[in-house]
Amino acid sequence: MKIFIDTADIGEIREAWAMGAIDGVTTNPSLLSKAGKPIKKAIAEICEVVDGPISAEVLATDTAGILKEGRDLATIHPNVVVKVPLIPDGLKAVRQLTSEGIKTNVTLCFSPSQALLAAKAGATYISPFVGRLDDLSEDGMVLAQQIVTIYENYAFETQVLVASVRHPLHMVQAALMGAHVATIPFKVITQLIKHPMTDLGLARFLEDAKQIPKD
Ligand code: E4P
Repeated sequence: MKIFIDTADIGEIREAWAMGAIDGVTTNPSLLSKAGKPIKKAIAEICEVVDGPISAEVLATDTAGILKEGRDLATIHPNVVVKVPLIPDGLKAVRQLTSEGIKTNVTLCFSPSQALLAAKAGATYISPFVGRLDDLSEDGMVLAQQIVTIYENYAFETQVLVASVRHPLHMVQAALMGAHVATIPFKVITQLIKHPMTDLGLARFLEDAKQIPKD
């Protein structure tokens, strides 16, 4: 299973990459606004750190505009994946970008029927937003599982990228259901590592080591 980091913060990206925890990066306009840099500059900087898929989202909402922005983003680096919203014009753009060999990540997916159409359009990734469904008291992981099942039923090549992950349990559930990727904030990466028994055990080993006779 692949893990992407869901941030545009270059410090967090460097740290996660150094740990070997991540295979790629997802960004969105909200995350990029926090990074405080022009989009193309921020994405280029990320591409220098991480050798893997880097999602950069278009801001246009019409097919011609999405195609123009998508082609432009794709020139930044061969690892750039153009992130496109799940709207009719977006799907038309995905179909065209795919035929040009440009990778796409269809974002803001909230239903299995949307995911089916994204796969038909040839999307490289589909991003179901599980946390935002949980926020509405709907189980977001059920959606992720439905998409995994539908794609397996028909051997679609589109990869399920579980997004809007809020906590380690989302991550573990995504892995158990066989999702291809989960994109997770830096905070969740640190939560995945942490275990109180590890800290306790290490503290005890270091304490006991003081009793070992010196050479
Ligand atoms: C990533 O591709 C999505 O944009 C992101 O996971 C959304 O997360 P949020 O619901 O926490 O904003």
